[in-house]
Amino acid sequence: MEFDIIKLKEIDSTNKYCYKLGKKGKRNLIVVSDIQTGGVGRLERKWYSNFGGLYFSMLLDLEEFKKRCSNNNIGKLNFLGSLSVVETLKCYLKNGNNTYNDIDNNINDNNKVNSAKYNNNNNLGIKFPNDVIVRINNNDKKLSGILSEVNMNYGFLVLGVGVNINNSIPNEIKDIAISLKELGGKEFDRFNILDKYICNFENNYFLDDDKILKKYKRYSLTIGKYVKIITPNKEIKGKVLNIDYNGIYLENHNEIEHISVGDCIHLR
Ligand code: BTN
Repeated sequence: MEFDIIKLKEIDSTNKYCYKLGKKGKRNLIVVSDIQTGGVGRLERKWYSNFGGLYFSMLLDLEEFKKRCSNNNIGKLNFLGSLSVVETLKCYLKNGNNTYNDIDNNINDNNKVNSAKYNNNNNLGIKFPNDVIVRINNNDKKLSGILSEVNMNYGFLVLGVGVNINNSIPNEIKDIAISLKELGGKEFDRFNILDKYICNFENNYFLDDDKILKKYKRYSLTIGKYVKIITPNKEIKGKVLNIDYNGIYLENHNEIEHISVGDCIHLR
């Protein structure tokens, strides 16, 4: 896979820019911008994008991507993206505390996590669906978020990634977000991080669905935890049994609930 990279000083949103280019027939592009004046997050939220962070979007061909997905499950893109981000960031946060479990070896025949065996001490990982967070003293702080979009008519996908690197975190989100600089106590080279990410993404791109899911779950900070999921029409609390390409499986009053998308809040 080869990507052309477009570097911008300022743009409203790299996702929106890629979307425009996608409609013009461009593919295999990465657009990165120093700042975004209208960065967008999931569920139509704002993504703060001041100088020092890494804000980029990948423009991919839908048909090409589908060839890599069994059952045409393009939801795999979110897993691929967050996995590639976490693999990248963990290299910059070597604190000796990040040893990852092979969660698949901890799932029994009923699709339940053997929680006695499952002991996730890691502090960097993925929170459902695709936030890369650090868990510090049981508090989740977001380092990176992903917004993927698809255009079926023109046949392209946009995978937008925002990573808090050297940017200062605005006061209003300080309790839920953190930067790599705050964690590492020094500035990091954004483009070096982007290069590593592209490398990880390219390697993961060619793996089959099962392998991606297995790798994703190894970094999951959600499986085995008690959570509250807020969807546009309901709120559900329960213990997370498993995650797959269709969503999350929660145990709630001895019933298993499946939720495809929503905001996941980790309960103490
Ligand atoms: C989220 O966690 O809500 C997703 C955030 C995605 C932000 C990135 S920054 C680059 C790209 N351009 C955007 O406008 N959004 C994504």
